[in-house]
Amino acid sequence: MNKIKALFFLFLAMAVVACQDAPQTEKQNIETGDPEIEDLIKSMSLTEKVGQMTQLTLDMVCVGEPYNLEVPHRLSEEKLDSVIRVLKVGSILNCGGHTYPREYWLATINAIQQKALQNENPIPVLYGIDAIHGVNYTDSASLFPQQIGLACTWDTALVKSLATMSAYETRASGIRWNFSPVLDLARDPRWPRFWETFGEDVHLASIMGETMIHGYQGEGEIDSLHVSACLKHFLGYSITLSGKDRTPAWMPERQLREYVLPSFKAAIDAGALTIMVNSGEINGIPVHIDKTILEDLLRDELKFEGLAVTDWEDIKYLVTRHRVAKDYKSAIKMAIDAGIDMSMVPTDLEFPVLLKELVEEGAISEERINKSVRRILTVKKKLGLFDSQTPSMADYPKFASKEHQDLCLEAAEKSLVLLKNENELLPLAQNKSLLVVGELAQSLNALNGGWTHTWQNNDPSFNTPGRLSFLEALQQEYAKCSFLSSADFQKNPNIAKSYDVVIAVCGEMPYTETPGDIEDLNLDDEQQGLIQAIERISTPSILVLIQGRPRTLGSELNGVDALIYAPLPGDFGGEALSNLISGTINPSGRLAFTYPKHPSAHTCYDHKYTDQIHIDFSTNAVQPLFEFGSGISYCAIDYTNLSLDQKQLGLNDTLRYSITLTNKGDRATRETLMSFVSDSVASITPSVKRLRAFESITLEAGESKTVDVLIPVSSLAFVDANMNWIVEPGVFGLQVGPLTETFEVYE
Ligand code: BGC
Ligand code: BGC
Repeated sequence: MNKIKALFFLFLAMAVVACQDAPQTEKQNIETGDPEIEDLIKSMSLTEKVGQMTQLTLDMVCVGEPYNLEVPHRLSEEKLDSVIRVLKVGSILNCGGHTYPREYWLATINAIQQKALQNENPIPVLYGIDAIHGVNYTDSASLFPQQIGLACTWDTALVKSLATMSAYETRASGIRWNFSPVLDLARDPRWPRFWETFGEDVHLASIMGETMIHGYQGEGEIDSLHVSACLKHFLGYSITLSGKDRTPAWMPERQLREYVLPSFKAAIDAGALTIMVNSGEINGIPVHIDKTILEDLLRDELKFEGLAVTDWEDIKYLVTRHRVAKDYKSAIKMAIDAGIDMSMVPTDLEFPVLLKELVEEGAISEERINKSVRRILTVKKKLGLFDSQTPSMADYPKFASKEHQDLCLEAAEKSLVLLKNENELLPLAQNKSLLVVGELAQSLNALNGGWTHTWQNNDPSFNTPGRLSFLEALQQEYAKCSFLSSADFQKNPNIAKSYDVVIAVCGEMPYTETPGDIEDLNLDDEQQGLIQAIERISTPSILVLIQGRPRTLGSELNGVDALIYAPLPGDFGGEALSNLISGTINPSGRLAFTYPKHPSAHTCYDHKYTDQIHIDFSTNAVQPLFEFGSGISYCAIDYTNLSLDQKQLGLNDTLRYSITLTNKGDRATRETLMSFVSDSVASITPSVKRLRAFESITLEAGESKTVDVLIPVSSLAFVDANMNWIVEPGVFGLQVGPLTETFEVYE
C-alpha cells in the first residue's frame, strides 16, 4: 500500500470510529463484501455519495462555457473547486474539446485528481473517454480501424493486440475508463453508428466484443497497462424503426434475446466492469427507466455487478425528448429507481442537488444510493485509482511507437475488402500511370471516421502530421499518379485515355450520432455520377469506397473492373490501400455485413425463407450487391474434402468436421473459414443460415491445409416461443465455402 492509500485508509478508520453510533442503515447484500469499500461508504456524507453518482463533461471545469470554451482550453480553478470540492463530483468525461498533447492530458487529469484528494474523503475521480479506435484525443496516438473495420479482419488475435495497445496508450494519457466497445448490431445500413459496431452478425459481434474486453481489461486484475471497458449501448440502440439515431425501437422479447442480447452477455461473462445505457426507447419505454432491462435482465439474469452509466444527458431527455417525466427531479427518481448508478449529466450542476433532495425527502432510500456508490467505488478500486496517481511521460515509452504503428498498419491492411478484380487488374505494376478522381482520396479524416481528434472529426488541423491520405500514399508508390476532382473528371472523362488506370474514390466524410442521419441510403448524385462516368470509359477502372456503412450506389458496377471497400481503416488506411493496389500485401478482409444493391431492399444474411419470395414467386428476392462474408484475395482458394466425423449427434455432442483448403495462388494468403449452419425445420421459423464458427487460416503459396472445426450442438440453439434457448432435434445443413453437408440431431 503506498503512502496516499495508507493515509487515506487511516483517515477512514478514524472517521468510522467517530460515527460508530450512527444508525446502521446498510443492509448486507450479495454485493457487499470489500471491507475497505464498506468502511468508506459508512464514512461518506450524502453529498459525497450523490457526487459519486454524477459525471460531468470536462468543459464544466474549464474556462468558458460548455461547447464554447476559451482558447486555449484550460482548467478553471474556481470551477474545479465548486465541482470537485463543493459538489464532490466523482467522474468526468471527455468530449467537446479536441486532441491535446499527452503532457496536457497528464497535467489536466493530475490537477483534477489533486483537487479530489483535498476532500475529506479523498476519493479519486474516474475519468472516461471514447477511445474507440485508439486513444483518439491524444496527439500522435496510434489509430487503428474503427470497429466495423476490425470486424472485417475476422482476426481475433489481432483485435486482442489492438485493444491491449489501445489500453496502454489510454493509460499513457492518464485515463483508465474507455467507453468502448459498441456491441449493438448493425442490422440497418441507414443507422449513423453502423461503423461503430462489429457488423450485422451476432456471433461475430459476440466473439469480437469478448476479445476486446480481454484486450482492454487484461486477463486478471487490472494493472497499470489496462483500462475498464464500457459496453454500449444497453440495449437495442441500433434496432430503430426509422434507421435514425436515438429513435424508437419496437422489438419483441424473442428478437431482443436472440439477436441483441448475446454480445452483451458474452462481454459481461468476460468480466466487463461498466456498461452504458441506450439513449433510445423500446416499445414506448425509454431504456433509462426500464427496470425490466436494467434490473431484471442486467442484474438478476446476467449477474452484472459493475457500474451502469447513462448516456449523454439522458435523464434530462426523459423530460425534454421522451416526455415520460414532468420535470428533471421526477426523471432522476425514475432513472435511479430503474437501476442507473451514474448519470452522464453532463452539463448541469443540478443533478446531485436534486438527487440529494430526493433522498432527504425519503423518495429514494440511502440504501439504494449506497448500492450505486458501492459499484462506483469498486470500479475505482479495481482500476487502482486509490493506489496510484497520474503517471509521468516516461512511464509509457511505447506510446505511439513504431511497434504500435506497425500493428495499426497491419490491422488497416487486413480490414480492406477486395470485392471485385476482373481480369486480375490488381495489383498494379509500379510503372502504370494512374488518374485518381474524387476528393475523398485526399482526406485522412475520411479514412478515420468520427470520434477522431474531435467528436465529428471534421477539422483536419488536428490530424497527426505524417499520416497519409490515400492519394499521398499512392503518390509515394507510383511516379505517375495525378489527381482530378470528381466534377472536373465528369466534365471531361476523355482525359482517362491518357492514363493506364483510373481510380475513383467515393464514400462518406466522417460523422457520428445524429449528425450522421441520412434521408437516402444512396450516395449523393455527384458521386453516383462519378461511378457512372468511370463505368463508361474504356480505360480500366477501380472504385475505392471509403465509408462506414454500405451506401447504395445506383449501379451494379458492371463497368467497374475492380472494387475495394475500405471500412474506416484509420490513420494508416492510406498506406494500406496503396499497399493493396501495388500488391505489397494480399487483401484478406471479408464483409462483416450485407451490402445492399437498392436503397429500400436491405435484408441481413440470416434472414428467413419468406424474405426470399420474389415478385415472380421464385425465391430470388434477396439479391444484395455483396453478401455478408464476401471478399477475395489475389489467390484462388479451393475448398475440398468436407467431411463430418459423425452425422448423427446428441444434444450434448459436438459437431466435428474437417476441410481441406488449398491456395492455388503463387503467394501467401489468409482465408477466413466460415461455418454456416441452417436448421431445416423448427418451431420458430428458421433463418436460411447462421454463422456458428469462423477462423483465420494462413496458407503459403500452393499450400494445402486440412482444418478441423468443432461446433457444439448447443451453440445451434435459438430462442423459442417461451423465451428459452433450445436446440430442436432434426436435420441441419452445414455450409462451408461452396461445400455443403447435412447432419441430424437426435433427442
Ligand atoms: C453528444 C456526445 C458528444 C458531445 C460532444 C453530444 O451531443 O451526444 O456524444 O461527446 O455532444 O460535444
Ligand atoms: C454517445 C456515447 C458516448 C457518449 C460520451 C454519447 O452521446 O452515444 O456512445 O460514449 O456520448 O461521449
